[in-house]
Amino acid sequence: MANDTLSVTDNRTGKKFELKIENGCVRAMEFRQMKVDAEDFGLMTYDPAFLNTANCKSAITFIDGDKGILEYRGYPIDQLADKSTHLETAYLLMNGELPNKTQLDEFTNKITLHTYVHENIKQFMDGFRYDAHPMSMLASTVAALSSFYPEARQVRNKEVRRHQMMRLIAKMPTLAAFSYRHSQGLPYIYPNNDLSYTENFLTMVKSIGKPNWRPHPALVRALDVLFILHADHEQNCSTTSVRVVGSSEVDPYSACAGGITALYGPLHGGANEAVLRMLREIGDKKNVPEFIAKVKDKDGDKKLMGFGHRVYKNYDPRAKVIKKACDEVFEVTGKNPLIDIAVELERIALQDDYFVQRKLYPNVDFYSGLIYEAMGFPMEFFTCLFAIPRTVGWVTQFEEMITDNEQKIARPRQIFTGSKKRDYVAMDKR
Ligand code: ACO
Repeated sequence: MANDTLSVTDNRTGKKFELKIENGCVRAMEFRQMKVDAEDFGLMTYDPAFLNTANCKSAITFIDGDKGILEYRGYPIDQLADKSTHLETAYLLMNGELPNKTQLDEFTNKITLHTYVHENIKQFMDGFRYDAHPMSMLASTVAALSSFYPEARQVRNKEVRRHQMMRLIAKMPTLAAFSYRHSQGLPYIYPNNDLSYTENFLTMVKSIGKPNWRPHPALVRALDVLFILHADHEQNCSTTSVRVVGSSEVDPYSACAGGITALYGPLHGGANEAVLRMLREIGDKKNVPEFIAKVKDKDGDKKLMGFGHRVYKNYDPRAKVIKKACDEVFEVTGKNPLIDIAVELERIALQDDYFVQRKLYPNVDFYSGLIYEAMGFPMEFFTCLFAIPRTVGWVTQFEEMITDNEQKIARPRQIFTGSKKRDYVAMDKR
């Protein structure tokens, strides 16, 4: 379109500029030509927390936050949750298309072959204190994997890179399960390659003393659906961390360890843990109005955990699927009594002007903790259950970044607000 441009007048100089608008964006570097004189560095854009800055072009995941839409490679998340499996979805994310039967069998086979970890990893795990947080152990052991696979540094070699991507997806459940077993003081259980990805994981976590013990199929399916829902979410905090760390061309293990640490925080993957603490604090349905009042109090510091999202200004489509899955899980495990408080919180909040005006809706974490708890996972382990599937997104985004000719090492600018140059003062003169 001829007028797909932005006209800018720099009122400091009176100069006019025509900036091209592409994909609803102007390039921030275009502003650099706007200078008051030849010495001037040029205009920059200021955007703390990247509220309005696209950092890449991506063909992986589409989100329309206002409409509550999430699609992986064009496929709506509810259809994938209903019909696909986590490994099929992983193939889709990594390769752009759904696999045929042969492709999926081959992919599943490759992942299954790589579920074992080097024996030294066990000793490494043993070095952690008995009460170490599983996410802390997971981040460290994933970073340590780079020392086992030095070839992983060849990030520009597609074959080598793909190999590490498969290894990461395959080993993440094993490492997460080991970190769980360590924190419970239980012996590690080796992967069973006859089982599906998710059944194998649940077996490594839960089996005690019965070699033929298998998790309930309904729980395997429910967790697999949760894995699908968490597989990617475009440029969220942990994925951006993976891209930024990976932009230095470090190996994908180190980059994903960066993603895990970002996910650890309570404003990101740690939110479902915070939701359960909040529901326990509320204690009873009748206390919900009082709690909501505290959240709305400007002088207080309470948030309604599991509500709000940087991108979704509508119901998070993943929360809808999880809310439905709760019933299926509770049929097997018995109802988690906190669900009644959660449903009441949602009902009251969605009618309240404070939340309506700010477009605060339940996000993926609002109900996921209830399912994890009903399945018998301790709260500290919830974020590991997020990291396992998100590994698919991290490695796929890592590859997209590394193969994108427009990308360079990530290095934002700053606005310096500190002291002007001054001379060093000797200790006795200060
Ligand atoms: N409870 C109460 N008020 C909230 C909440 C909440 N959960 N979330 C946002 N608000 C309010 C803010 O106080 C702000 O109000 P103001 O305009 O009067 O100052 C307004 O809504 C806008 O919020 P921001 O903080 O600007 O939104 P932002 O996009 O920066 O934050 C975030 C998004 C971090 C997710 C935030 O909504 C939050 O902290 N939610 C609770 C934690 C949570 O559930 N995190 C999980 C996110 S999903 C994920 O990572 C998988």
